[in-house]
Amino acid sequence: MMPAATVRPDDTPIFDPSLLRGLDWSQNTVPFSPAISPLEPGEGLVLRPLCMADINRGFFKVLGQLTETGVVSPEQFIKNFDHMKRSGDYYVTVVEDTNLAQIVATATLVIEHKFTHSCAKRGRIEDVVVSGECRGKQLGKLLTSTLTLLSKRLNCYKITLECLPKNVAFYKKFGYSVSEENYMCQKFFN
Ligand SMILES: CC(C)(COP(=O)(O)OP(=O)(O)OC[C@H]1O[C@@H](n2cnc3c(N)ncnc32)[C@H](O)[C@@H]1OP(=O)(O)O)[C@@H](O)C(=O)NCCC(=O)NCCS
Repeated sequence: MMPAATVRPDDTPIFDPSLLRGLDWSQNTVPFSPAISPLEPGEGLVLRPLCMADINRGFFKVLGQLTETGVVSPEQFIKNFDHMKRSGDYYVTVVEDTNLAQIVATATLVIEHKFTHSCAKRGRIEDVVVSGECRGKQLGKLLTSTLTLLSKRLNCYKITLECLPKNVAFYKKFGYSVSEENYMCQKFFN
């Protein structure tokens, strides 16, 4: 592996884009009006895996609308990207406005490997965010539905996510329900 400082951000995807192209969208259960899909997310938009060059296309600007991103150097980004890519378990997905060359939405599916349930895989949806000016254009729905289908395609036995109470109704659209289990958390730093 080359040191991060000598790597130039390029269009190498963080996961195999054919996984998105191969999804059976007929299994999507959420209504879209007008109809959009992972292959046709809307005029001037592309839904695809994150690539390194997205650091220069406002990826962090969008993430920053979800939570504190802190200061991330290109070297740190490349190192993390490379780690996630090699693990094969991080499906960081973005929507790009190709006219502006800007990321306008992102969501991530993370796969956790278990010994239980016959060495099953569990999916987790993380970091769902649509940039302020693009909200209400079905992109949050598109990403969530796409990654939920992808988790099935990857043979996850279940998929979970954590969200604020105000977003529960959003995720119920995709078949998620509030679990009886409590979400417990201990924060060491922000
Ligand atoms: C939540 C979020 C991802 C939704 O994305 P979006 O692109 O604006 O939403 P979409 O256009 O795809 O979805 C619209 C549908 O979801 C509903 N919806 C949108 N946000 C909702 C919310 N917070 N709660 C309930 N329903 C919501 C709309 O009413 C609409 O319903 P319809 O299709 O039945 O008409 C977006 O508002 C966002 O980025 N919020 C800030 C970050 C955040 O809170 N992320 C979630 C972390 S768990």
